[in-house]
Amino acid sequence: MSRQHLLLRELGLAPRWRLRRGTEPEPVLTPALAPVAANLVPAAAAVPVPAAPVPQAEGMPVPLVAEPAALPDWADLQQQVANCTACGLCQTRTQTVFGKGNQRARLMLVGEAPGAEEDKQGLPFVGKAGQLLDNMLAAIGLGQDDVFIANVLKCRPPGNRNPAADEMAACADYLRWQIAHVKPDVLVTLGRFAAHALLQSDAAIGALRRETHQYQGIPLFVTFHPAYLLRSPGEKAKAWQDLLAIRRALTKMA
Ligand code: URA
Repeated sequence: MSRQHLLLRELGLAPRWRLRRGTEPEPVLTPALAPVAANLVPAAAAVPVPAAPVPQAEGMPVPLVAEPAALPDWADLQQQVANCTACGLCQTRTQTVFGKGNQRARLMLVGEAPGAEEDKQGLPFVGKAGQLLDNMLAAIGLGQDDVFIANVLKCRPPGNRNPAADEMAACADYLRWQIAHVKPDVLVTLGRFAAHALLQSDAAIGALRRETHQYQGIPLFVTFHPAYLLRSPGEKAKAWQDLLAIRRALTKMA
């Protein structure tokens, strides 16, 4: 049994994530998408962290499509995030969480907000949900170097509460700029907050995940947040279908 299958089995995922013979064509992965199941363990070479004020707004969705300010270079963007005091979360965070992975990745994933562990380490998706996300990506042959991962919010909401509308608005430019720099072939939103932020929609995930969307000309797939999948393992089969669609899109665009 391969290391990948052992890992998936340990997480209780193996039976659900395995590709069924005959039901799905095996795509040819490009070098950039080379299988990396053997490299699952080390946390990514993270993009360092560290600010800039942004506007306040009420209600969803958050304006991520407006073009209010010029694109800062990557280092400046990191600095702006690190020093950000644009919303109240700067008072309760340990540190900001900019993102991790490959700045030139073909696939960019967007989560909701840092949790306790992410706030401590300064990296996104390093807790249990992150482990599941790593294994989901490994199941379609993707490792840490094949993706860039960021969140809608760069600071942890206290007690892991949901992001507030003003917080999402304050952070909106950072994510928009990150996407403009990475220029991924494919974007994936994890959970409803990321989907709502990028799609300007408040539709349910169940409806949004059934079609491929566009964000600034980039194909965007909506799928479940891994933390939700940990709570609702019955939904993993649907998430697996989403992963296969994402892999097909990457293969097609290679
Ligand atoms: N959940 C998220 O949405 N992002 C993280 O970084 C961790 C958990």
